[in-house]
Amino acid sequence: MAMQTFAGDPGAFRRFDLNRVPSPCFVVDETRLEANLRILADVQARSGATVLCALKAFSMWELAPLVRRYLAGVCASGLWEARLGREQYGGLVETFSPGYKVDEMDEIIRLSDQIVFNTAAAKDRFLPRIRGSGKAVRVGLRFNPGLAVGDDPKYDAAAPGSRLGTPLEHIDAAALQGVDGLHMHTLCEQDLAPLLAIWNHIAPRIRELAPQLQWINFGGGHHITRSDYDRAGLIAFLQRVNAETGLHCYLEPGEAVALDAGILVGEVLDLVENDGLNAVLDVSATCHMPDVLEAPYRPALLNEGGQTRVRLGGPSCLAGDVIGRYAFADAPEIGTRVAFLDQAHYSMVKTTTFNGVRLPALAIWNSETDTLRVIRQFDYQDYRGRLS
Ligand SMILES: Cc1ncc(COP(=O)(O)O)c(C=O)c1O
Repeated sequence: MAMQTFAGDPGAFRRFDLNRVPSPCFVVDETRLEANLRILADVQARSGATVLCALKAFSMWELAPLVRRYLAGVCASGLWEARLGREQYGGLVETFSPGYKVDEMDEIIRLSDQIVFNTAAAKDRFLPRIRGSGKAVRVGLRFNPGLAVGDDPKYDAAAPGSRLGTPLEHIDAAALQGVDGLHMHTLCEQDLAPLLAIWNHIAPRIRELAPQLQWINFGGGHHITRSDYDRAGLIAFLQRVNAETGLHCYLEPGEAVALDAGILVGEVLDLVENDGLNAVLDVSATCHMPDVLEAPYRPALLNEGGQTRVRLGGPSCLAGDVIGRYAFADAPEIGTRVAFLDQAHYSMVKTTTFNGVRLPALAIWNSETDTLRVIRQFDYQDYRGRLS
C-alpha cells in the first residue's frame, strides 16, 4: 500500500505555543472536540438514532463529562473499556468483543446494557449467564455483510476470510434466538456512499429478519465530522432504515469524535547527516504513533513548509522508527519543537514503552479561553509497573 499522507486540519493549533507543554505531549483542544460532538449530537437528534463513542479510538476519560453531554454512551471492546465506560462516562455501555473470556463475562454483564456476540455459538454459550443474572441486558449478534468496500483489507472487516462477524447468510432463526439486535462494523474513515452500498446489499435479508428484532447497529468508520461528509444523507438514511424496518439505529464512531482534535508535540534530541538530514525526536512512530508504521501513513506536521527536507524519526532502536520526511523553513536545531496533527484518536490509546521510551504527557487546551491543563505525566514507575 502506498504511503498515504493525511492533510490534517491544524485548526486553532496554528497559534498554540508548543513550548507550553512538556515534551513529548498529546494536546487535545476541547473546543474542537466539542465541535465534533455537537455535529454527532445533531445527527443523533435529527435521525432518531443513538450515537455511542467508541472508546477504542478515544478514551481520554478526563473529557468523559464533555463526551457524555452530547452522546448517549460508549461502545467498549471488552471488560476494561466497559469498566471505564461505566465508571467514567455513564450512559449506555455496549460491549462487543470477537472473543469473550469465560471468567470475565459476569462482570461484563454487570457493566453493560447491551452485549454483542460475534457468533451464535458464543451467544448460546453466554446467554444462560445473562438470563441468570436477572439483569435486563440487550443481546446483539454481529453479522458480516459480505461486501468489502474498503481500500485495504487490513481495515475492512468484510474482506474475504474475515473472523469479524457471522456471514449474514448464516444468520437464521436459531442464530437469532435470544437476540434482539444486529450489529455490523466494516467501514473505516468512509463517507456515506459505502454505507449505502452495503445497505443495498443487505437490505432484503435485514427486512426479512427485522420482525424478530428491535435494533441495528451500523458500527463505526463513518467520517461524520469531516467537513465534506454528507450528513444530511446519513440522517435521511437512518430515518429510512427505521421507517422501513422498525429497527432503532445505532452508530458507534470513534475517529469522528476526536477528528483533528489533538496533536502530538515532540522535540529534536539530535541530528544525523546521512543521505540528507535526520532528526532524532523524543516522539517515536513505533511507541507513540504505531499506525504510522502499521497503516502505513505519514502524519501531517504542524506548520510544514520550506526548502529544507528533514527525516524525522524516533529514539528507539528500530531502524524503521521513521515518521516521515518533512519540509522545514530552517534546519531544525536541538530542542526545536514539532507537532504531528490529528493524533487524538488511535495514538494515545496505542502507546507502548518499548525501549523504555517515555510515554507522552496528556494535556487539554481550550482554544477559546487559551486555558491549558497538563493532566498526566508519566514516569519510570509507569514503565516499571507494566513489567515484573
Ligand atoms: C466494532 C467497532 N465499532 C466501532 C469502531 C470505531 O471505528 P472508527 O473509529 O473508525 O469510527 C471500531 C473500530 O475498529 C470497531 O471495531
